[in-house]
Amino acid sequence: MASRRLGVLAIYLGKTKLEELSYFRRLSQEGRKLGVQVEVFTPDDVESDIAVRTLTYDPSSQKWVRRLTSFPSIIYDRCRYQAAANYQMLKAFRKKHARLTYLSKPLANKWKMHQILTESESIRDYLPVTIRYSTTQELMRFLKKHKLIYVKPKNGTGGRGILRIEQIETDLYLLQGRNQYRKILAPYRATEKQLMIKLNTLKLSPDYVVQQGIQLTLQDGRVHDYRLLIQKNGSGEWEVTGCAGRIGPQRSITSNLHGGGSAVALEKLLTYRFTSKVKIDVIKKEMNSFAFKLANFLETKFGKLCELGMDIAVDPKGNVWLLEVNPKPSREVFHKIGQKATYQKAVTRPLEYALWMMKENKKSD
Ligand SMILES: Nc1ncnc2c1ncn2[C@@H]1O[C@H](COP(=O)(O)OP(=O)(O)OP(=O)(O)O)[C@@H](O)[C@H]1O
Ligand SMILES: [Mg+2]
Repeated sequence: MASRRLGVLAIYLGKTKLEELSYFRRLSQEGRKLGVQVEVFTPDDVESDIAVRTLTYDPSSQKWVRRLTSFPSIIYDRCRYQAAANYQMLKAFRKKHARLTYLSKPLANKWKMHQILTESESIRDYLPVTIRYSTTQELMRFLKKHKLIYVKPKNGTGGRGILRIEQIETDLYLLQGRNQYRKILAPYRATEKQLMIKLNTLKLSPDYVVQQGIQLTLQDGRVHDYRLLIQKNGSGEWEVTGCAGRIGPQRSITSNLHGGGSAVALEKLLTYRFTSKVKIDVIKKEMNSFAFKLANFLETKFGKLCELGMDIAVDPKGNVWLLEVNPKPSREVFHKIGQKATYQKAVTRPLEYALWMMKENKKSD
């Protein structure tokens, strides 16, 4: 049993509260069935070079139990560094404990990622045109060309600090968005001159990307997109676990569930958007084949990965676009739409992949 330990690298929100504890509980329960002991810890729990205080879930008392132990040799990194300090802490941990096997690697920020992905001819066509913010004048030129743009912090998550600007008439623009605390900003209608003044107060910098916006507004004014989850299975191969739709709340320009978005079945949302069954099938196939292409390409750039969440947009013509790729995706979207089997798979696959990895490591010992 001792050799079948899976370390889950997490992060404290505040002093003691762990992010994603309910996911880790579920992971522990499924792990038990597969003979894998899940042990959660953060870099703060490291005692020495050889000892760490990990948490294991005890189903009889329904409590997490902490104990001092050696490092699990396989690590599932679930740290989502919202603050730069967390990122540095994680980086230092990985550097110090480079001997451990990590199921995945950190990817790059939104701008770097865009640059990397444009290297691939077969992926490039799926990317909205993206530039790094330089000046308000250049942003205006970009806006006039694309009519709809998104401005996003390159290190942002969860829809924080994202702006959407649309040209609605020759000299009339609509600015909407969320601040860095994710609060929805009051929509602002403005002429070019007024918009430029407003933009100058927003303290944009080269830490932002400016991106062609995809028209994703539904009839009732809400925006939507899709979340696809692709994971490695128990044979170390990629498989698409599932894909679900997300609809943002009223007045929101993002669809993220953490920003109040709701989950809906893929089929339902596609049927709402497109009448032709053939077209829907073509779109679904394209999303799938693209997901494999992207996952394989990213591994050539970053090394072995375990799972990826892709934010996918489908425009009114049925073209598929990649908005973002997340190396530490959540899976609650499947739970929310009642797809129990898909959710179950989404939880067990990292465990099965970890078991496969343990076997691989043994072979090379
Ligand atoms: N170019 C775009 N066109 C249309 N909608 C977009 C575009 N970019 C982003 N959005 C909307 O905003 C949402 C959030 O954008 P994105 O995923 O890039 O950043 P994030 O959510 O802050 O990052 P993370 O998913 O890592 O938390 C998307 O899910 C989508 O609803
Ligand atoms: Mg996203």
